[in-house]
Amino acid sequence: MPMTISIRDATLSDANAIALLTGQLGYDVSSEDAAARLGRILSRPDQCFVIAEVDQRPAAWLHAAIVESIEADPFVMIAGLVVDRQHRRSGIGAALLRHAEQWATEQRCTLVRLWSSAARVATHRFYEHRGFINVKTQVSFVKPVGGAQPDLQKLVPRVEEQS
Ligand SMILES: CC(C)(COP(=O)(O)OP(=O)(O)OC[C@H]1O[C@@H](n2cnc3c(N)ncnc32)[C@H](O)[C@@H]1OP(=O)(O)O)[C@@H](O)C(=O)NCCC(=O)NCCS
Repeated sequence: MPMTISIRDATLSDANAIALLTGQLGYDVSSEDAAARLGRILSRPDQCFVIAEVDQRPAAWLHAAIVESIEADPFVMIAGLVVDRQHRRSGIGAALLRHAEQWATEQRCTLVRLWSSAARVATHRFYEHRGFINVKTQVSFVKPVGGAQPDLQKLVPRVEEQS
């Protein structure tokens, strides 16, 4: 039987599934942390967090957000995207990107942008297939403040590249 794919807004009850998928993005997140962060995201109109379901089960998520800056008009940033390993290469990532592009248009933004770790070489091909253009290379700086001593390694994803 052909599988059914549908895209819907995330709800707090998705936190556990989102945390599991986030592990496949290369970041370990507890269900509790995912629920707290998702709650803040869902309360904001400048954020879009959607789930792609395969046969009524969460199989992927995409988070997009409007970014304001002085040097450019507001744009939509893809803050995160992951498709369950079992469901890759069947059009779900592309469908989620189309959803984000449509949302950007509705928000009167004319650009969708994203930053992706240099190690995600196959993922970069996926974005290029979808019409994204690599315009520059950057370095990523971070500095803890207020006496905090966070584990900075948590900001670096484990990347399991597929061909
Ligand atoms: C990148 C990712 C989201 C792609 O999702 P997906 O559902 O597998 O992609 P799709 O099936 O929609 O592929 C869409 C197009 O990209 C191409 N593509 C997808 N993965 C590709 C890859 N690894 N290498 C080359 N092309 C790829 C497909 O061939 C397809 O092209 P077409 O439309 O011309 O046929 C998914 O592989 C993933 O979750 N990867 C791990 C996490 C990650 O890297 N997230 C992004 C962080 S920036």
